[in-house]
Amino acid sequence: MKQRTLLFVKPDGVRRGLIGEIIGRIERKGLRIVAMKMLRFTPELARKHYEEHVSKPFYPALEEFVLSGPVVAMVVEGDDVIELTRAMMGKTRHTEAAPGTIRGDFAFSTTENLIHGSDSPARAEIEIANFFTDAEIVG
Ligand code: RTP
Ligand code: MG
Repeated sequence: MKQRTLLFVKPDGVRRGLIGEIIGRIERKGLRIVAMKMLRFTPELARKHYEEHVSKPFYPALEEFVLSGPVVAMVVEGDDVIELTRAMMGKTRHTEAAPGTIRGDFAFSTTENLIHGSDSPARAEIEIANFFTDAEIVG
């Protein structure tokens, strides 16, 4: 089933020079990037994007981290792209992410884990609208 998802390279990925590595994996997998931009989170966008986590104990550290530098956000399209990109990202915790996944190959922290990906079609729709206008989706 053809789907869209919202991905972003987190500030650690940008700082570490891994934008190309991460985008390259998405391209080499045959997925289609239909929108992309570099931006900085604001506290408002962080609270909106991470609404399910705002009341959790790790939220202050998460917000500080996503505000710590620019991110590279994109809308990616493909068959079953949500499940596929979640598999390519690897598990949230750096200790559990399998080698061969983005987090498994590069992450050494649970907070700073390089990439975000929507986890359901409903969330993808909301998250894409948080980051991109219809006119910015050009692919
Ligand atoms: P994401 O939303 O960024 O794609 O990551 P995810 O689905 O794998 O993980 P999620 O449970 O949605 O958590 C969102 C982000 O919050 C940070 N986190 N820190 N210190 C902690 O226990 C903890 N747990 C989560 C991570 O940056 C995680 O990706
Ligand atoms: Mg998540």
